[in-house]
Amino acid sequence: MRTKRRGWASVLLAAALGVTLAGGAQAAETGATFGTHWQDWRAHADVADLASLQRGARDFVGYCLGCHSLRYERWSRLGKDLKIPPDVLKKDLIPPGQNARDYMMSPMTADAAKWFGKQPPDLSLIARYRGTNYLYRYLETFYVDSGRPTGVNNLVYPSVAMPDVLSSLEGLKVAVYRTVEVPGPHGTRIKRQVFAHFRQVAPGSMTREQFNQFVHDTVNFLDYVSDPPRLQRHRLGVWVVLFLMVFTTLAWLLYREYWKDVR
Ligand code: HEC
Repeated sequence: MRTKRRGWASVLLAAALGVTLAGGAQAAETGATFGTHWQDWRAHADVADLASLQRGARDFVGYCLGCHSLRYERWSRLGKDLKIPPDVLKKDLIPPGQNARDYMMSPMTADAAKWFGKQPPDLSLIARYRGTNYLYRYLETFYVDSGRPTGVNNLVYPSVAMPDVLSSLEGLKVAVYRTVEVPGPHGTRIKRQVFAHFRQVAPGSMTREQFNQFVHDTVNFLDYVSDPPRLQRHRLGVWVVLFLMVFTTLAWLLYREYWKDVR
């Protein structure tokens, strides 16, 4: 069991390193401020974008599978739907000890609840449950907060138990607040702190654009996973509509032919 877990860790590390190196040399600029309108950030998920889904699958295996399972998705289905050749699937994605027929299960045990305070949830249906824009904002709004056991907090999920697992890519950012006065009881004014923007305090291996793309791909992948047959449905749908159009034309011609002599 021990060695198996260690094997896993090295795979994850290697994958993480691979993605980090591929991320490019230009890091997110320290001191830059952004995110005033983070509530408007959108995932722009598009399950027809196969290249994005393939990158998302790679990112998920490298950065999320260590804690989160996808218990309704088999490796073989992933390969088939995303057109990943079986040898690449086996070499780069499937963890040692699992095979293509298995579900995408995390090696994380029930001890996780002890370590993190919460069990990392299965993410098979999370995109349907939370929506893709939520997931995008969730992964984009981790910020440094020394008051938390993990050292980070999150704007859409305050006091979240998940560590900032993407900080090596994104770098670190802090939340800057501004004070506003709001009307209180009996004509008084109450001062309240509201979020103003993020400030980048340490660079990661990616630029902001690269990181946004990374999150987009990961969310896109989770959207696909939440409803895998959608890909086939969309492909098939085009043919169904075409068939109906041809059939309607034929039916109409036939109708005209039959009624020609009656009228
Ligand atoms: C080190 C373990 C760990 C890793 C790695 C990890 N997570 Fe999590 N994640 C957690 C824990 C623990 C929670 C439960 C947080 C809570 O409910 O407070 C969680 C919760 C979540 C949630 C649910 C949030 C919600 O609103 O219910 C999502 C979505 C999520 N993680 C996505 C990801 C993605 C995507 C990755 C990979 C980029 C990832 N996680 C990597 C530990 C991890």
